[in-house]
Amino acid sequence: MTVGLAQDLVREGKVTFNVGSAFYRPQSAIARDLAILAAAVYRQRHGQLRVLDAMTGCGVRPLRYGLEAGADWVWANEGNPDLGDLLTQNLAALPADACRLTHHDANQVFFTCYQQRDFYDLVDIDNFGSPAPYVSTGLWATRLGGMLYLTSTDGRATSGHDPERSLRTYGACARSHPAVHEQGLRLMLGHVAQTAAARSLGIEPVFSLFTGQVHRVMVRLVNKPTLSDATYGFLAYCHRCGHFQMVDWRHLGRVPCPCGTADTAVVSGPMWLGSLHDGPTLAQMQELAEGWGWRSQARLLAIMTQENDLPPYYYPLGEIGRRGQMDIPNRDQLIAALQVQGYRAAIPSMDWQGVKTDAAFRDCVAIARSIQF
Ligand SMILES: C[S@@+](CC[C@H](N)C(=O)[O-])C[C@H]1O[C@@H](n2cnc3c(N)ncnc32)[C@H](O)[C@@H]1O
Ligand SMILES: [Zn+2]
Repeated sequence: MTVGLAQDLVREGKVTFNVGSAFYRPQSAIARDLAILAAAVYRQRHGQLRVLDAMTGCGVRPLRYGLEAGADWVWANEGNPDLGDLLTQNLAALPADACRLTHHDANQVFFTCYQQRDFYDLVDIDNFGSPAPYVSTGLWATRLGGMLYLTSTDGRATSGHDPERSLRTYGACARSHPAVHEQGLRLMLGHVAQTAAARSLGIEPVFSLFTGQVHRVMVRLVNKPTLSDATYGFLAYCHRCGHFQMVDWRHLGRVPCPCGTADTAVVSGPMWLGSLHDGPTLAQMQELAEGWGWRSQARLLAIMTQENDLPPYYYPLGEIGRRGQMDIPNRDQLIAALQVQGYRAAIPSMDWQGVKTDAAFRDCVAIARSIQF
């Protein structure tokens, strides 16, 4: 919960700080909450937690990593030196020997870490716009087994409204379809997985979060590439009937749709097609959230758990209603009806007014219709 205490003085989680002229969005608290939980789980598992917060703004993250996740050491970096006094004042709540404050360009910091063999358990990069300029460099500062937290505020590159931009940013062609909020997460994951693979490394998603405007992924760096036909490929969407299908690299020729349309489905990608989250980590994060009385965060984590390993797309309820020429179906009744028919179905974490299911779109529409009459 975020509470304004006085002019510019803010409380979030267990910490209090001044915002001054720094960039700070109270609406992003959920992204910080999940990162704190993942960091605390990491601390429990590994017995240590050293964090590099490369674009710290007012310093809310280092404060929270230190005071809530139990970080042993936090490096707060902020490119804007004008925020130095504010940050010095805010970070005074951390033990002086557990914190460092600098004002460098983030990429310079990552290279310094690599040069000095000073690798971090968690590298947090909360940039504006696309994460692409910081992905390959952020990996240089992340220890093997450690985590990298990436942000994208560039919805145009992932929503299919500017395919040239997605090509420049992710080396992928993003097309428009009803599940673009999930596509944004998968393009980021695909990009970081491919970037790591080029260095014979791999990533595993820890969690993936879309909060309405911003896409965020936290990934774990592992010592083997995780790119395969199962995890990295393409998503095809038929604009005639609404059907989604996954396509691998060897079948990129003509992508026929079961509806028999003469039009080829539009193909997006390459992108990450594997799990969005790490199930065991989500379970531990949820347990911690419940123990801390963080009810809305625990509920979100439960939703993420249920959607994990379902196909890499979802059907917005409005789309089911529009295509089925019927009223918008009740989500929970539709999920229950799909499950009765033997399908897996869950709420998509990135669009709570939708369903994620392994039923084909036309079967989902038919089941939605059957519960309306
Ligand atoms: C989105 S704000 C960070 C917000 C903060 N992490 C939070 O959770 O409230 C991004 C910050 O990064 C700084 N910044 C932007 N580009 C940077 C770069 N290349 N290197 C270091 N800092 C940078 C900006 O001055 C800004 O304060
Ligand atoms: Zn079709």
